[in-house]
Amino acid sequence: MFPSLVLGFLAARIAAVTAAGSSGCIGTISSLNDVSNAVKCTTVNINAFTVPAGQTFALQLLDGTTVNVLGEIQFGNLSWAGPLFEVRGNDITFNGNNQRWDGGGPFYWDGQGTNSGKQKPHPMMEILISGTLSDVYVVNSPAHAFAISNPGPITISGVTVDDSQGNHPNSLSGKSAAAHNTDGFDVSGSNIIIQKSTVINQDDCLAINSGTNITFADNYCQSGHGISIGSISSNSVVSDVEISGNQVVSSAYSFRIKTDATATNSAVQRVTYNANSATNCTSYGVLITQSYPSTMGTPGNGVTISDIKFAPGTTSLTANSGAYMVAVNCGSGTCTGNWDWSGLQASGGKTGSILNNDVITGFGQY
Ligand SMILES: *[C@@H]1O[C@H](CO)[C@@H](O)[C@H](O)[C@H]1NC(C)=O
Ligand SMILES: *[C@@H]1O[C@H](CO)[C@@H](O)[C@H](O)[C@H]1NC(C)=O
Ligand SMILES: *[C@@H]1O[C@H](CO)[C@@H](O)[C@H](O)[C@H]1NC(C)=O
Repeated sequence: MFPSLVLGFLAARIAAVTAAGSSGCIGTISSLNDVSNAVKCTTVNINAFTVPAGQTFALQLLDGTTVNVLGEIQFGNLSWAGPLFEVRGNDITFNGNNQRWDGGGPFYWDGQGTNSGKQKPHPMMEILISGTLSDVYVVNSPAHAFAISNPGPITISGVTVDDSQGNHPNSLSGKSAAAHNTDGFDVSGSNIIIQKSTVINQDDCLAINSGTNITFADNYCQSGHGISIGSISSNSVVSDVEISGNQVVSSAYSFRIKTDATATNSAVQRVTYNANSATNCTSYGVLITQSYPSTMGTPGNGVTISDIKFAPGTTSLTANSGAYMVAVNCGSGTCTGNWDWSGLQASGGKTGSILNNDVITGFGQY
């Protein structure tokens, strides 16, 4: 064959391979324009870039895709609903490589969170994958950082949410922290492990709203509202939760179960707290209440809380002198089953109230 024919033949072969859609290609994203082509590949590399204000960086991935984040992601600043980032797919390996995702928090923070004031895009990171998500490093989320609602089992490891800058007041927040409602992980999903992660924020480190088989292990939570189940609204079940080996530092609450006073047809069951530690707790060490949003108000009767255990490993809790160590506020007959307080050691704070509760009598020391 003539050389040009050889080349033409080779070119045709290469075109055929590409056209056959071999998804084993490597897609590269350096702007939102690259996304639609890159997600045809099962390896997606993300370079540093700025997502234009008012747009979601959305990835709908092929099954089995590996994502490698290779540079810092920033987001243009604009008051809008969000989310800033969203990822969907099955059996995904998402390697964040500790590259920063900067939500631009100081642009939004006004001390009012999502309740009022400036509209803040949230959640910042909407996670709708199964597989693994590792080493994703978020700073300055406008409000809620991660929302997890997974289509299959997921393990999340080594994630950071650093909203520590939001602890300081700014010109709009008066004496309060500038950041507010900066939940670390909001979970509505099942078969989830979140481990070895760090959250420094101004609201729940973890908030489980619904789901079963959820493990939160070996995490570090600082300056927020600690590790929470709830708040539970109507028609929601949270079951089989393991809270293990975590450290909660300088937070308003350490371990909370909060169910809405108005909720009906819901349940929280089989929650185990094993070998955690909490220090410098400033409001309540353990708070289990059915009167949310009121702390120790009139409880509702529409949610059953059963089988709550502080065992087998010791969970140690040090409250500030002005804080309550443990308080429980149940409706009538709505805290049931087998509770085990044998592994809870609390000190430093005031003795809290135990209201309307049969199952934890005899724990005056808290
Ligand atoms: C958004 O505003 C924040 C706070 O001023 C700033 O840190 C961040 O760099 C801004 N983001 C962009 C993409 O300009
Ligand atoms: C519980 O969730 C983990 C993490 O996703 C998963 O590996 C495990 O198989 C699940 N267990 C059950 C009984 O489904
Ligand atoms: C205790 O926690 C509060 C609230 O986060 C914080 O302001 C204070 O500095 C902490 N104290 C110590 C000794 O860490």
